[in-house]
Amino acid sequence: MHKNFPAGFLWGAATAAHQVEGGNDNCDTWAEEWAEGSPYADKSGDAIDHYRRFRDDIALLASFGLKAYRFSIEWARVEPREGEFSDEALAHYRAVVDACVEHGLEPLVTLHHFTSPKWLMALGGWKGERTPALFARYVERVMPALGPAVKRVITLNECNIGVLLQGMFAQLGFVPPIGVDVKSWRAPGWRNSAAEACGTDAATYCAFQMAGDERGVAVISAAHIAARAVIRRVAPGVQVGLSLALSQPQVAPGGEQQAAKMWHGNFRQWLPAIDGDDFFALQNYTREIYGPDGQVAPPEGVETTGMRYEFAPQAVASVARRVAHELKLPILITENGYSGSDDTRRIAFIGQALAGLHAAIEDGVPLIGYTYWTAFDNFEWVFGYAVRFGLVAVDRATQQRLPKPSATFLGDIARRNALPDGITTHPQPGTSEELAMDHRYTPPAAEPGVVFTNVRVFDGSGSAPFAAELRVDGRRITAIGQSVSHDNARVIDGRGGVLMPGLTEAHAHLTWPTSVEKFVPGMSLPPEELTLTAARNARILLDHGFTSAYSAGALGKRIEPALKDMIDSGGMPGPRLIASSVEREPPMEGSLLDPGKVDEHGAGPANVAAFVKGCKDIGAKAVKFLISGESALKPGASLELLYTEEELMAAGAAAREHDLWLTGHAHAADAVKLGLKAGFRVLYHCTYADEEALDMLEAAKDEVFVAPSIGIIQATLDATPPPHFDMTHMKQDAALVLETQKALVPELRRRGVRLLPGGDYGFPFNPNGRNARDLELWVQHFGYTPAEALHAATALGGQIMGMGDELGQLKEGFLADLLLVDGDPTENVAILQNKHHLKAIMKDGRFHKSPA
Ligand code: BGC
Repeated sequence: MHKNFPAGFLWGAATAAHQVEGGNDNCDTWAEEWAEGSPYADKSGDAIDHYRRFRDDIALLASFGLKAYRFSIEWARVEPREGEFSDEALAHYRAVVDACVEHGLEPLVTLHHFTSPKWLMALGGWKGERTPALFARYVERVMPALGPAVKRVITLNECNIGVLLQGMFAQLGFVPPIGVDVKSWRAPGWRNSAAEACGTDAATYCAFQMAGDERGVAVISAAHIAARAVIRRVAPGVQVGLSLALSQPQVAPGGEQQAAKMWHGNFRQWLPAIDGDDFFALQNYTREIYGPDGQVAPPEGVETTGMRYEFAPQAVASVARRVAHELKLPILITENGYSGSDDTRRIAFIGQALAGLHAAIEDGVPLIGYTYWTAFDNFEWVFGYAVRFGLVAVDRATQQRLPKPSATFLGDIARRNALPDGITTHPQPGTSEELAMDHRYTPPAAEPGVVFTNVRVFDGSGSAPFAAELRVDGRRITAIGQSVSHDNARVIDGRGGVLMPGLTEAHAHLTWPTSVEKFVPGMSLPPEELTLTAARNARILLDHGFTSAYSAGALGKRIEPALKDMIDSGGMPGPRLIASSVEREPPMEGSLLDPGKVDEHGAGPANVAAFVKGCKDIGAKAVKFLISGESALKPGASLELLYTEEELMAAGAAAREHDLWLTGHAHAADAVKLGLKAGFRVLYHCTYADEEALDMLEAAKDEVFVAPSIGIIQATLDATPPPHFDMTHMKQDAALVLETQKALVPELRRRGVRLLPGGDYGFPFNPNGRNARDLELWVQHFGYTPAEALHAATALGGQIMGMGDELGQLKEGFLADLLLVDGDPTENVAILQNKHHLKAIMKDGRFHKSPA
């Protein structure tokens, strides 16, 4: 029996502007491709030059027998600058529509397919408040320009891509998307660089694919609703829908909740936005199986495609049935396809998918069309050009189009509006069950929040504490105000204490052994003791209110990266840590600090660069160099440079390449200058900075942080050493440094340089745990008020940690790293030196010390 499809069924193929047009350099994806450290396998470049070759391409698709062409309009071309519309671009897309009409193809228009103009990113992208209105204004210009031949419009392609990617990247363990280097994808650096290219920062930047949280879903839904309203007004009669990417959800034993959660995030939560649409655009590529902890690997031995998805042509019909069960709208399959070089498998995929869809139609599922993804092999986003879905291959050297047999196969089906005999759908291998149609996702009961009442809030800005309540939910501060909601919360009476952000130690040495809990006479310990001591010191810093620490170097190679991992995974208490490797000085006779006999780094730019790269390999983030020496340890050394300019420039280049931060010990003026020239992010001491160094520091004030490190100086002056240990010259040097810094620090502050407390704690006479003493010293020596010193240790602390937009202040949305102090540190900052004044210590929304 012939498998005929309903009359008027739309047979087509799809593309998206950025993936085929070429030269789309005004959009966010282009910025991502070119970003420093970009995870994109290729740059889109000229793509397949479809912007110029569209007429021939459309003629080719029509020659196969297809009836529709789905393509997208590029917002970045139509509105190159906010509010400025390009007549050329609008005319171009009108010409595309006309070419479709000329060749008898119905133009199926997508108004947004992932890419957005760069300028939108500076307005918050797909989390921006104005974005729905801006999108609607763009749509208002586009629709009339396209003319009356357009009958159906998809506003936004895969509204749920952000939700989907979030899920996918949480599961990288078993479905690593090919071609993506997981480490570089997760490294924050490339997004900073992309954001910069869009004229903004990573905190503001939000590409469409990133908008997967509640806010993103709300903005995208609002954009769709606003665009639909505009279309109803300016192009009445045009049918409107949105598209979602939906895998077929199946369950392994115990997986119902997880499968239902996926279905909720990807489909059900979009129903309010879809309400009022004329059709639903469904995109499917595979099935997914869920167990009790989330998605599980497909059954052993199943065939996979070029995207490493399971080859699952039956999935599309199953999903269409599921959608039809929940939504009373016509369904258009706007994407479904096979990636891989074996075109016979593509033909098998298309045939089986269509057989399944045919059966669904017979059962009453209101399917109105099928546009295969994709017409031409093209730029497959982060995977580049290696992943090939096309019906037509493209030789990108010559841009020659080379139709595959699958093009003819689908074209013939379109011509006949029927499947050839003998093609059937097969059940998928493996024993998984379908997720029951009516299974609902019940979100887990929200964890109770924490509300602090009867407190005064020092928010980190430097202004005086104010009476307020503060609420924490999950990891973040969710409300600050006269009275916040107490619903589902543990309420803590702060008894009039001050609630303030956790402190940051900007010059931390967790492997310097001595602490307030244990005196170690000397600096070196056997490796086992050293590692455990570092872990203990991490806990001690947190006990004393330091929720963040920026490492100034370690005595062991990989201790800090390992410690950081342990802390971050909840394995042991400690501050957020910017981890470092061994503190470095070049090979010299009589090393100043014994780094515990790790591999040498030789002299010369290549060796220095290799050392930096080595730090990346072991998971450190900050790399410490002694740019000049240390007179406390060797008289006169503070004024000696230990590196050449070439070496430091090589370090700078390597750090940029590997997304690392350079930290420099720099007393000498020339050390400061060289450090700045080489791009060092943090400079310690800066004691002998001359006028030129001061000017350079001022010029770099948005990039650099300075920690004068006065704690160690004061401790040297105060120390009463045992008789065998002569500290005479150390004390002389310390006295000089103190006097010099008393003038230097206020001058740097006047020039707007970001200065942070942090005092080299961990020496026998300057123990770890005493870190808060720096604050008092700042008041005493540098003319800071306590509130100003606290601002430097909190708000600027968030910045040095690279998290200034979410750490270091008590603000709604910020991470809940906070201290409840019994007493007011803005009146007497010294109280912070006694840990018993810290009634509560919270890091990341969890109590390290819970109030009694
Ligand atoms: C997108 C396409 C993409 C395809 C294959 C869909 O997510 O809409 O742009 O190329 O899947 O990965």
